[in-house]
Amino acid sequence: MTPTPDPADRVLARASLAEGNPTGWFEQLYTAAARGEAEVPWTRGAPNPDLAAWVRPGAGRALVVGSALGDDAELLSAAGWTVTAFDVAPSAVQAARARFPKSTVDYVVADLLNPPGEWHHAFDLVVEIINIQAMPRDFRAAAITSLAGFLAPGGTALVSEVAEENVAPEPGPPWPFSRAEVESVAQDGVRLVSLETIRDGVRYWATFTR
Ligand SMILES: C[S@@+](CC[C@H](N)C(=O)[O-])C[C@H]1O[C@@H](n2cnc3c(N)ncnc32)[C@H](O)[C@@H]1O
Repeated sequence: MTPTPDPADRVLARASLAEGNPTGWFEQLYTAAARGEAEVPWTRGAPNPDLAAWVRPGAGRALVVGSALGDDAELLSAAGWTVTAFDVAPSAVQAARARFPKSTVDYVVADLLNPPGEWHHAFDLVVEIINIQAMPRDFRAAAITSLAGFLAPGGTALVSEVAEENVAPEPGPPWPFSRAEVESVAQDGVRLVSLETIRDGVRYWATFTR
């Protein structure tokens, strides 16, 4: 029997990672998808349903990490938050702006591994959903430190990643999280508020404050 070819995201990720570049494949995948040559597996054309069920009206500043095509950022904006949303892939940022031309969301190209200094302790709500797990584990500690650093005093950080304890091991991406890795967002003054599993145990859903 002929083996099923790997999907484009796996092929591009493997090549990018072999060159020591943990994030280059995202831009390649978005541009290949725009040419109709690949699918971006995480795009749904709608906000994350768990976030939609969780979100409360807000009036402060929110930051969406790995904002992809913008659906989660627009959800928060519609709930009253003043939203900055960033992605390392310029094509994703351009596509989000094009999809929501009247948006008040500030869509920015930025890298979680080297974020703008003015974002330090600047956001009342920080949303991280399945982005850090898409980078190899070597980058995890640095990404988590950046993430924790965005949270303003009194704010809430939401973190959702695939739960290692309940999924079969597979070559990444993604590289699922352990419970201890989720808990490690609680650093430098950030405290864990809640940690549960959702989707029949396959994802963590954790909240933090400072
Ligand atoms: C697996 S997708 C998840 C997208 C979205 N958060 C969701 O829940 O559907 C990961 C996204 O994060 C972006 N990304 C990956 N590494 C990043 C980094 N270091 N900084 C900013 N964005 C990054 C990718 O371009 C991609 O859009």
